Amino acid sequence: MAHLLIVDDERSICELLEISFRKEGHKVEVATSAEAARRKLASQIFDIVVSDICLPDMTGVELLRYCKETSPATTFILITGVPTIDTAIDAVNFGADRYVVKGDRLLDELRPAIQQVAENLALKSEAGYLRRELRRLTGLDHMIGTSPKMRDIFELIQNIAPQSSRVLITGESGTGKELVARAIHENSARSKKPFITINCGAFPETLLESELFGYVKGAFTGANENRRGLFQAADGGTLFLDEIGNMSVTMQVKLYRVLQEGKLRPVGSTEEADVDVRVITATNKDLEKEIAEGRFREDLFYRLSVIPIQLPPLRERREDIPLLAREFLDRFLKAMAKTSDGIEPEAMRRLEVYDWPGNVRELENTIERAVALETGKRISTEALPDRIRNHFQAAIPEAAANGNGHGIVLQEEGVNLEEHIQKLERSYLLAALERSGGVRTQAAALLKMSYRSFRHYAKKYGV
Ligand SMILES: Nc1ncnc2c1ncn2[C@@H]1O[C@H](COP(=O)(O)OP(=O)(O)OP(=O)(O)O)[C@@H](O)[C@H]1O
Ligand SMILES: [Mg+2]
Repeated sequence: MAHLLIVDDERSICELLEISFRKEGHKVEVATSAEAARRKLASQIFDIVVSDICLPDMTGVELLRYCKETSPATTFILITGVPTIDTAIDAVNFGADRYVVKGDRLLDELRPAIQQVAENLALKSEAGYLRRELRRLTGLDHMIGTSPKMRDIFELIQNIAPQSSRVLITGESGTGKELVARAIHENSARSKKPFITINCGAFPETLLESELFGYVKGAFTGANENRRGLFQAADGGTLFLDEIGNMSVTMQVKLYRVLQEGKLRPVGSTEEADVDVRVITATNKDLEKEIAEGRFREDLFYRLSVIPIQLPPLRERREDIPLLAREFLDRFLKAMAKTSDGIEPEAMRRLEVYDWPGNVRELENTIERAVALETGKRISTEALPDRIRNHFQAAIPEAAANGNGHGIVLQEEGVNLEEHIQKLERSYLLAALERSGGVRTQAAALLKMSYRSFRHYAKKYGV
């Protein structure tokens, strides 16, 4: 059934629609002003909005525009007591799905439209639909995340993207540095111009110089014609210098000059050319340490890091793991033309406790491998690599701290590992609840798991 929002300052209309559609099984909410409607639209997802055109604080058409911007998938129906050609045209132009005249037949006219939306909803795979809607609220372009750390980063990106200030992105390998650089470009006024990437670590010094700045005919053997460099190719757009920490000191000096003067000189040329490029750089090195050890120039560092963005490793935002894992699962299922009922809770749990030295990329590869290997209906622990499957067990010796190499004394008769682990899980759950004074969200945090997983285990063990 559909989630409806009725917007009308005439209470009798609101009541009529609310009562009728509730009776038909829909979830109905009411707003008697455009402002109240906007507040609801900002915090919830509606399948259908039915709005009067004449509202006290804003026209229904303006509300329609707002709704289509924030929630394009929502069906919007305008109703009016005084139909005019102009408003009908506006309604259509701004993407209203229907335009209905108030009167005796209002309900009869609305009912089929709402029925149709409700049927379409039922058809869409519910999980997939909810997840997509969630994505809309929880990510930026191709980046996903709901953890506070990632939300802060999405917000920062949106704030700084429009200007052309330089950005230095740091973070461990696989944390999404390149995705951030792209998101900044996509959300800037430069998005229609090129986004060009170069890995500074992959080129020997002289080659990097001619790649970046270009060269003129005869500048060196083999330079048979003039060639533009990447700075010029990215004119008006964004140049992403990846692995800037691997750039030689000589090249750093040359790059500094270009940034300082806004002009560059192609190799072998006597003439300078203007550059209009936003420079974004990334590195997984600790540049401050590189500076201290004389491998990175401090002046360049300050030029590049006008806005520093530090991406947290995945192990510091574990709550993003289930979301990412499901997203990758969808992606690889589609790519491999397979179907699956999802990830078994036990397998998900292993994903959540693992430390992910390779961060999001490692998770992505892990899911790809699992999709390829899994023969059952759901992704199980069997499809996970040993290092991830055994991670939890490997943590036991630490807790047991028995002193010998692996910290485990295996009895002659062996051990029922699964039962043993279950006991241990239950004990940890109880211990965490005790420590947190019964506050479940805190207990979940102590065990480095999402609240959802915690609930799952609490139920499983009757805690
Ligand atoms: N928040 C995220 N949401 C979805 N996918 C992500 C996210 N972060 C990273 N990825 C994916 O993980 C992989 C690694 O991301 P990316 O290449 O941007 O990382 P990186 O920090 O540049 O890594 P490296 O230092 O190894 O170059 C990519 O396939 C990317 O699509
Ligand atoms: Mg990268």
